[in-house]
Amino acid sequence: MIVAIDGPTASGKGTLARRLAAALDFAYLDSGLLYRAVGAAVLAAGGDPAEPAAAAVAARTLDIEALDPVPLRREAVGQAASIVAAIPEVRAALLDHQRRFAGAPPGAKAGAVLDGRDIGTAVCPQAEVKIFVTASAEERALRRHKELLERGEASIYARVAADLRERDRRDSERAASPLRPAADAEVLDTDALAADEAFQTALEIIEAKCPGLTAGVRTTR
Ligand code: CDP
Repeated sequence: MIVAIDGPTASGKGTLARRLAAALDFAYLDSGLLYRAVGAAVLAAGGDPAEPAAAAVAARTLDIEALDPVPLRREAVGQAASIVAAIPEVRAALLDHQRRFAGAPPGAKAGAVLDGRDIGTAVCPQAEVKIFVTASAEERALRRHKELLERGEASIYARVAADLRERDRRDSERAASPLRPAADAEVLDTDALAADEAFQTALEIIEAKCPGLTAGVRTTR
């Protein structure tokens, strides 16, 4: 049983996916962290994230078990991630891991929730549930700006908004697995939805696709 959650940067897909996995007792994979780790490895080696050979080696030699999420969440790493993510060899190297995770969720869980850009279109086109989480660029920039400030990172709204537009453009226009909703995905626009409301709506979408699956799920925290 696979739940695919895709969407643009700062759409709230990570928070939603993590919460759904906990509620359903499914394994959770943040696929963005893999691309971030590749971007970070290239930067750490003094390389150029746009250089395919170096990025492909970093992807093939990535120690997935040893990822430390905290430094990987920095904005500079996010930008490098979206540059390496356009390189087909990088995507191919990371595909196996994502498919293995979905096919045999760790901890012998009954299912997996994966979030990213191309889970429903390329990684797991057979997923039983596909949700494409989105929001306007302004709302997403505001959320990311607040998140950075809360984490103690310096943040200027105009800069965050410009970076986000740049990342949207790169993720949507690349030839390899561009960001777009799968034809059979439900689009969840979170512009006017608080995190709790987005979670409720996602549970309703899951229940409609897989009746009984959300029975007994606690909807309040
Ligand atoms: O958290 P945020 O949405 O800012 O980014 P992320 O999900 O951690 O992903 C970082 C970058 O990795 C994205 O900008 C994408 O370019 C890339 N990515 C991808 O191409 N495919 C995925 N399945 C996940 C992430």
